[in-house]
Amino acid sequence: MELTTLVYLEPELQEAAQHLADSFALPCVDGCAIASAKPKCLQRFLKERCPASAGGFVFVLGASGLAMNAVGDDCSIRADFHGPTVTYRRKQGGGKGQMIAKAVGLRSGVSPRVLDATAGLGGDAFVLASLGCSMTMLERVPAVRALLQDGLVQARRFVDVSKDCVLAEVLDRMSLVETDALDYMQQISLDGRPDVVYLDPMFPVRTKSALVKKEMRLFHHLVGADLDADGLLDAALSCARYRVVVKRPRIAPPLSGRPPSHVLEGKSNRYDVYALEKLPKGLNLEV
Ligand SMILES: C[S@@+](CC[C@H](N)C(=O)[O-])C[C@H]1O[C@@H](n2cnc3c(N)ncnc32)[C@H](O)[C@@H]1O
Repeated sequence: MELTTLVYLEPELQEAAQHLADSFALPCVDGCAIASAKPKCLQRFLKERCPASAGGFVFVLGASGLAMNAVGDDCSIRADFHGPTVTYRRKQGGGKGQMIAKAVGLRSGVSPRVLDATAGLGGDAFVLASLGCSMTMLERVPAVRALLQDGLVQARRFVDVSKDCVLAEVLDRMSLVETDALDYMQQISLDGRPDVVYLDPMFPVRTKSALVKKEMRLFHHLVGADLDADGLLDAALSCARYRVVVKRPRIAPPLSGRPPSHVLEGKSNRYDVYALEKLPKGLNLEV
């Protein structure tokens, strides 16, 4: 499915919208008249004003930032680092006891520098950054990268207003690089090697299953199947200093068919840990 149009919902966003639309070679459509209308009206508007978008995706740029909508399906995705759900998880979410934290080796006195080589919308990177890791995020799909970049910008704006210093520090620990992970890991300098490489490539979802959330389906349609994912593991194992962590659906085979050193298993996902060396105490100890 294709990204066909960019719609902006506020007059003052026209210039930024045009800039973004140009960089994706998309038509830029004025949707200010429906800025505060219900999602159904946006769907109707898109069908009437942008017929080419039927069955595809559109960027929607509004007061709360950039989202991607599926046309004909009342569903959208965005990168969110400051809304109520992520804030609740950040403050009440189980801290370093969470499986993802244990998988990357976070513990008292150990806050690794993590390369999230498959960042997507940055959800996992944000959790790890909230717990003290420094995160370098790589994302190769330009539309996903634009959403991720905008999520970071919106969170910064929120910090400016809310003066949430803790969130500001979390954001300071997150950086985004526009690149393919394989190239990046193969070209990294000795000094630039991360402590941990984190991989969460796409895995085919049962798109008809009612259990798969609409948003997840939209994301899968947008990104595709990461058919080259197996190739990332060898590069990650050469690049990481201490360990590689691969997030997999619970029932999926290990990446590249390679058995991990140990596994942390949850209800629907598991973390395959490939240990190279013990993470030393005092690693990037926060001041
Ligand atoms: C399942 S999503 C990651 C979700 C992410 N962990 C989160 O919490 O939001 C996988 C992402 O990895 C990206 N990806 C896959 N292979 C990549 C590569 N070789 N280089 C950079 N990004 C890659 C895909 O474009 C996709 O956005």
